[in-house]
Amino acid sequence: MEIESWRWAGLFLVLASIGTTALSAQDGSPLPTGVREWLERDQVQRWAQMIEEGDELFHGRSCVRCHGEGGKEGRWGPDLTDSEWVQSDGDLQGIWDTIFWGVKRDDFSDPARRFEMNPGGGARLEWDELSAVAAYVWSLSNGTYLPTGPGG
Ligand code: HEC
Repeated sequence: MEIESWRWAGLFLVLASIGTTALSAQDGSPLPTGVREWLERDQVQRWAQMIEEGDELFHGRSCVRCHGEGGKEGRWGPDLTDSEWVQSDGDLQGIWDTIFWGVKRDDFSDPARRFEMNPGGGARLEWDELSAVAAYVWSLSNGTYLPTGPGG
């Protein structure tokens, strides 16, 4: 990095620390009890929305054509509902990476397959759409991980 860039980085750090001080010291009072749980519940709701959105994209765009309805029994792509993963470990990031990069013929686990998977599944996904579709594919073999019980 050049000196100039370091200077900007330094300025950024100073501003960031002022920002956080201001936040925690607004009126000196602590966060209400339970607020973290509330916020977490909010985020889990967001996760559920992502999965729903991913479902729509999966079935509205290219994915369904190769991987089949619900990611099952597709004619040109592997089953996405079993917990067997051939292109990654099958964790969220692995699935995301596969969708982002696609799968070249040289990397097929089954050489008899006919068509390559283009980057983004050839579906022209925006960043947030890519994450939504990855969340949906992940949920097919892991469940939606939605909280149950009061307020859940
Ligand atoms: C043209 C057909 C085609 C389309 C369209 C397509 N795929 Fe694929 N997909 C494949 C093939 C082929 C493979 C790799 C098969 C192999 O390894 O033998 C694959 C692999 C995958 C994998 C990795 C599976 C594993 O077991 O690791 C994921 C995840 C996946 N696709 C998701 C998607 C999503 C999401 C979309 C839509 C955005 C999509 N695909 C669109 C053909 C397609």
